Amino acid sequence: MNILENIALKPYNTFGIAVKARFFLEINSLLQLQKALQLSAYPDKFIISGGSNMLLTKDIDALVLHINLKGITVVEETESEVVIKVMAGENWHELVQWTLAQDYGGLENMSLIPGNAGTAPIQNIGAYGVELKDVFVSCEAMRIDNQELEEFTKEECQFGYRDSIFKNKAKGSYIITAVKLRLTKGQHQLFTHYGAIESELDAMGVVTPTIQAISEAVIRIRQSKLPDPKEIGNSGSFFKNPIVSHKKFNAFIKKFPDAPFYEVGEQQYKIPAGWLIEQAGFKGKRFGDAGVHAKQALVLLNYGNATGMEIVHLAQRIQKTVKEKFGIEIDAEVNIIK
Ligand code: EPU
Repeated sequence: MNILENIALKPYNTFGIAVKARFFLEINSLLQLQKALQLSAYPDKFIISGGSNMLLTKDIDALVLHINLKGITVVEETESEVVIKVMAGENWHELVQWTLAQDYGGLENMSLIPGNAGTAPIQNIGAYGVELKDVFVSCEAMRIDNQELEEFTKEECQFGYRDSIFKNKAKGSYIITAVKLRLTKGQHQLFTHYGAIESELDAMGVVTPTIQAISEAVIRIRQSKLPDPKEIGNSGSFFKNPIVSHKKFNAFIKKFPDAPFYEVGEQQYKIPAGWLIEQAGFKGKRFGDAGVHAKQALVLLNYGNATGMEIVHLAQRIQKTVKEKFGIEIDAEVNIIK
């Protein structure tokens, strides 16, 4: 096995944090993954896939396994649907583009989300009214302690808003190796109601929307307000939108009647963290090389040489100010590695 030493991890995390891996191994097959997990000379392992939802704050004194498992196959097909199996290291957006080229529907609203297919279930990625769980069939994951492959059904994944079993009970025990997704053929269900999709389709001159046109609209919207990690380090939304009880919401909306909100589930309300952060005065602010995006306050930025801890300190300052001003706690969506 080609184990490398002292490898710069900047290219492997979309925040572009310049830390190093003590040891580093690229994983290209399941067999290789099994063998790597058995290496007793390297007891501590650390998994990186797309690196799009983590904030590294220090050098990783472990064997970093970079998951590069590739392949997309159709495993079931009927007149109206296909189930595809996607290996964990496939880039998410390239996968979305591939499905659209086959005219398979279901992923178009989730165009341009950074990261890889294998990490999509961990936080149940979602955008513009669609979440991974809406197309998800199951995933295959290797148990770290015995290297056995297990299948997790949709129910077993316990998906929630940016949440799953892999962030809770199963955290740190498995490596997702593949996901299975159910997509439509021909008779697509289009979701154009959310956010700016309809107006963007209008601006594009689209009269009869297709899955390809929706993807294009989502790409345009995202490009207009979300920074490209290739140009400036970031991890998408840094925080989750807080969900508050009816009681808390009533007190909040009385004081801030102009605040946007969504009713979710019974007697619960989601308040956009981007709005709270903007009102707290952080939008577009920069502190050294750490900053808050000027077009979407939910996104924290690394202008080049910010350390992970500088980003963490900015996040903590934002959380404290939002709590003081609104009495609402906002939690990080990004996995902070301390
Ligand atoms: N808003 C502000 N100021 C801001 C940002 C937002 O006032 O700086 C307000 C907007 O005006 C709007 C509301 O907040 O009324 C919602 O904003 P937006 O539509 O941009 O969506 P979001 O709730 O901020 C979520 C996801 C995004 C996803 C979009 C679209 C989370 C944590 N984020 O953002 O996901 O793309 O909806 O579906 O749920 C990600 O997870 O990395 C991500 C980018």
